[in-house]
Amino acid sequence: AVASLEEHFEHTIERDQRIEPRDWVPEGYRKTMIRQIAQHAHSEIIGMQPEGNWITRAPSLRRKAILLAKVQDEAGHGLYLYSAAATLGADRADLTDKLINGKQKYSSIFNYPTLTFADVGVIGWLVDGAAICNQVPLCRSSYGPYARAMIRICKEESFHQRQGFELLMTMMKGTEQQREMVQEAVNRWWWPSLMMFGPPDADSPNTAQSMAWKVKRHTNDELRQRFVDMSVPQAAALGVTFPDPDLKWNASREHYDFGAVDWDEFKNVLKGNGPCNASRIAHRRRAHEEGAWVREAAVAHAAKKEERK
Ligand code: 3HC
Repeated sequence: AVASLEEHFEHTIERDQRIEPRDWVPEGYRKTMIRQIAQHAHSEIIGMQPEGNWITRAPSLRRKAILLAKVQDEAGHGLYLYSAAATLGADRADLTDKLINGKQKYSSIFNYPTLTFADVGVIGWLVDGAAICNQVPLCRSSYGPYARAMIRICKEESFHQRQGFELLMTMMKGTEQQREMVQEAVNRWWWPSLMMFGPPDADSPNTAQSMAWKVKRHTNDELRQRFVDMSVPQAAALGVTFPDPDLKWNASREHYDFGAVDWDEFKNVLKGNGPCNASRIAHRRRAHEEGAWVREAAVAHAAKKEERK
């Protein structure tokens, strides 16, 4: 008998094959894919602000050029992801409205300020490093357009991470003051980077279903642990420490044990009370409003071209 649409969907997931835009999907799958992809896209676009803050103040032309390229990459990541969301029927303008009106989220990590130039290196090293831990598995996500967007994005994120590490290595070979600047930035960004992976599995309402649909390939805690294990040797190579007295190798687990994450801070930032939530959204709203004439001109131009045909 011809498998029902539901059975076909289930078999595709079971066989680790890709769901494509033309395939039938359960409404819940469409909803959670739009939710995750849209919020991922919003994160990329909002993430341009903290780093962009240092483009005009980079210490050299080389550092300025590298940072400019990274911020442009993030805009491109947002574009791929909004395009992937569009294949599920999500409207770009509607998603932008939902971001600006707080109806959809973006990554908590971008609600923290970039206070010194060392933050640019630490964001490349830790924030893009965490993003890589989280996103490499997403290259095997069941939704085709999302998985394929991840392959390109992960290549660029890996480059960002190496750029950040190289920037910090240069500063660590500099003056005592530069070394202190790096350590001070690491102290501010370490715990918020762990929060990027989401709440503990026990408090994650979406993980079970997302694992069943192979949207997620690992849980929040698994990826957070992978990131900690990857980062400790890198910190040693840099000559910096992490602000966690409980961080130590556990031979029986063969992983690093680490201290308790402040989930109250995480929930507070998600509620909108982080250091920069208001300014990030205000900036995004202003850019959207000031860019309206460009969108209107493009639509008018396209209509004229259509008329001339
Ligand atoms: N910031 C903001 N919201 C978060 C969050 C975070 N760090 N972690 C979890 N949440 C939200 C979830 O979106 C969910 O809310 P929702 O139902 O309204 O969407 C709620 O908290 C509960 O979390 P769950 O674990 O149940 O949610 P998920 O299963 O969706 O897991 C996630 C959260 C791990 C972030 C997952 O959505 C994911 O892997 N998303 C894709 C990766 C992504 O978005 N990365 C953004 C990082 S920034 C970036 O990549 C830019 C680069 O340049 C650094």
